[in-house]
Amino acid sequence: MRVLVTGGSGAMGSKFVTELAKGGNDVLYTYLSRDAPVHGGASKSLDVTDKESVSEVVSGFGPDTVLHLAALTNADLCETNPSLADAVNVRGTENIAEACKKAGSRIVFMSSAFVFDGSKPAFSEDDAPRPINQYGRSKLAAERCVEKSGQPFMILRTDLPYRWSPRHVEKNNIMKLIRAFESGEKYREITDWFNTPTLVDDLVTVTNALIGDWEDGTYHVAGPDFVSRYEFASRVASAMGKDPESILGIKSVDLNLPAKRPNVFLRSDKAESKTGIRMRSLDDGIEEVLRQASVERSG
Ligand SMILES: NC(=O)c1ccc[n+]([C@@H]2O[C@H](COP(=O)([O-])OP(=O)(O)OC[C@H]3O[C@@H](n4cnc5c(N)ncnc54)[C@H](OP(=O)(O)O)[C@@H]3O)[C@@H](O)[C@H]2O)c1
Repeated sequence: MRVLVTGGSGAMGSKFVTELAKGGNDVLYTYLSRDAPVHGGASKSLDVTDKESVSEVVSGFGPDTVLHLAALTNADLCETNPSLADAVNVRGTENIAEACKKAGSRIVFMSSAFVFDGSKPAFSEDDAPRPINQYGRSKLAAERCVEKSGQPFMILRTDLPYRWSPRHVEKNNIMKLIRAFESGEKYREITDWFNTPTLVDDLVTVTNALIGDWEDGTYHVAGPDFVSRYEFASRVASAMGKDPESILGIKSVDLNLPAKRPNVFLRSDKAESKTGIRMRSLDDGIEEVLRQASVERSG
């Protein structure tokens, strides 16, 4: 399969690029600012807000499938700069969808738990989205562009992706935690933000399975646990043999951040029953990340 991965330089994208290439696919990925090579794929610079460039890159490569990951992912920046969020996340996706139509490509779009408001104990694909911040609104509007494209599409919603990725310390919560616990730095973590953490390795496996047994639609692809950021950090500390009590719990209100966060438990039963793949628990996922860290460091 010929796959174009937009945002292939990102924390999630770089894993997709490597694994898709390992699976024998012909992969081209795009980056905006980070052009450090990602193993397995050829790369191209692309700003998705530039409609003509998007059209040129997509039609030039002629992908069977476009995995559209490029996005403005900083929720606070989206809140303070909604026109940038709109340009990158909505218009950028519209540009991708139009280019896919011209090139006859299928679209896989990565969306977010933040399309929901967190008002229910858990959310399935049948629940009505109701975003409470600009990032969520922009991802929902982007979903609509993909649905309206007329092309075969899959929308995947995930949450708090984590993986072993030394190149993405600032963009990957678990890398910040590992670094802090190794250096003995005092760590503060929020007690009232809850997420459905997702091991990126499993996200890639499930996405590949969904692509292989293609059926248009929206799928939640997230881990089975629903935990606070504080609990996430405590589990990482315990797995590293550190004292979880050393983490200082703080309330989000004390940070006075621009964007409100919804506490969303994403249920992935639909993807799980379609693929037969059960995503790893948070504890197993953390063990896997620490195992990869140790293999890489000893190699
Ligand atoms: N991180 C999360 O918590 C989370 C949760 C749910 C869903 N998602 C979704 O998953 C996808 C991947 O996220 P991630 O965690 O990998 O985020 P990330 O590490 O911030 O990566 C974002 C990617 O988008 C690229 N990009 C940003 N602006 C662009 C533009 N104007 N034109 C083209 N490329 C642009 C970046 O390029 P450079 O790095 O080269 O500048 C990077 O490759 C996104 O669609 C995001 O909305 C993320």
